Amino acid sequence: MKALCWHGTGDVRIDKVPDPKIENPRDAIVRITASGICGSDLHLFDGFMPTMEDGDILGHEPMGEVVEVGSAVHNLKKGDRVVVPFTISCGDCFFCKKTLFSCCDTSNPNAEIARKAMGHSPAGLFGFSHMMGGFPGGQAEYLRVPFADVGPLKIESELPEEQVLFLSDIFPTGYMAAENCGIEEGDTVAIWGCGPVAQFAIQSAWMLGAARVIAIDRVPERLKMAEQQGRAETINFSETDVYDRLQEMTKGRGPDRCIDAVGCEAHSTGAVDAVLDKVKTAVMLGTDRAHVLREAIMCCRKGGTISVPGAYVGFPDKLPFGAFMNKGLTMKTGQTHMQRYMKPLLKKIEAGEIDPSFVITHRVKLDDAPEMYKTFRDKKDGCIKVVLKP
Ligand SMILES: NC(=O)c1ccc[n+]([C@@H]2O[C@H](COP(=O)([O-])OP(=O)(O)OC[C@H]3O[C@@H](n4cnc5c(N)ncnc54)[C@H](O)[C@@H]3O)[C@@H](O)[C@H]2O)c1
Ligand SMILES: [Zn+2]
Ligand SMILES: [Zn+2]
Repeated sequence: MKALCWHGTGDVRIDKVPDPKIENPRDAIVRITASGICGSDLHLFDGFMPTMEDGDILGHEPMGEVVEVGSAVHNLKKGDRVVVPFTISCGDCFFCKKTLFSCCDTSNPNAEIARKAMGHSPAGLFGFSHMMGGFPGGQAEYLRVPFADVGPLKIESELPEEQVLFLSDIFPTGYMAAENCGIEEGDTVAIWGCGPVAQFAIQSAWMLGAARVIAIDRVPERLKMAEQQGRAETINFSETDVYDRLQEMTKGRGPDRCIDAVGCEAHSTGAVDAVLDKVKTAVMLGTDRAHVLREAIMCCRKGGTISVPGAYVGFPDKLPFGAFMNKGLTMKTGQTHMQRYMKPLLKKIEAGEIDPSFVITHRVKLDDAPEMYKTFRDKKDGCIKVVLKP
């Protein structure tokens, strides 16, 4: 089959690779019909993620048609239309039973590497480095789905593919990010980033009762989407000091809830901490550019909450932990506990409360994926979200 393979920083190609096969009775094989490119893929493309290997297949936002099931998979059959979540979870361990699916204790075969890096291993993830299991991803013609009796969501209605595809990652991720804020009546929610995850965090903040949503980015079409689709007020961080502007907008109190939907590749226009990050990551002395996380801690109101869906990989430094402690802040984060959110959010789509396809700007063939990685990374051609159609 054809698949998008990683060959080093900035180098992804379409290769011919062997078709996946059932390896375990709980596996299914899915013929991929659509697959997103995610901001997380950019961290791999840009070389931020350790333990990638030459030839790894990327992609973790797939959907398609079941073509084969293992003998222990009774809830799916050949021909079913499914959305596959990016987290691989067993469904029966201590963590899965608590619906902490992205913390699954059994799905990462390389748990030992992750344990050395993080103290404990999170769940295995599709297309996301060997520390996270080395599972081939879904930017391919076919995908092997382990624990297929737990992960894939069957789509039984006639909803078009583009409306349900983002149940694989970014809609649940934006929703969990907003839920992790603990929004209370009257709250102002500030969201760093206007990328796809942030767009769904904006939508979800309203669903969960925010009184006001302020979104921050510098890319004009992304700010515009936050304003038009998201009904958010916006701040362009390349034109305005974010701290000053947020305090002004909240009469000096600061936003009640802050969401970092940017993660480890934050940009900045000249702030000292950001310049240091850039130098340190460029010479391999640093792992993350944490400017947004620092800024969110400084901006957040006392007693407020910081929610971090943005991905971090290693040891972000210079975090103002004194401010975090003395202001009495709370932080919640994590890879999304996908299987907890997919069904309830599908109901919202079916009820017409949201049509997630609004973020899509580019629809291309799998063959064009290498070019689209660059377009998406460089935010060229108005690119906000790419869907690959094998
Ligand atoms: N927790 C999870 O389970 C999960 C799931 C999916 C994605 N993610 C992570 O969420 C993050 C966002 O994903 P995405 O697909 O929206 O990515 P994206 O790269 O398209 O969007 C990031 C946005 O942040 C903006 N940005 C950069 N620096 C900024 C700054 N200083 N202030 C404000 N905005 C700034 C960029 O201009 C861009 O629009 C990534 O880190 C991704 O890895 C996490
Ligand atoms: Zn993703
Ligand atoms: Zn589990």
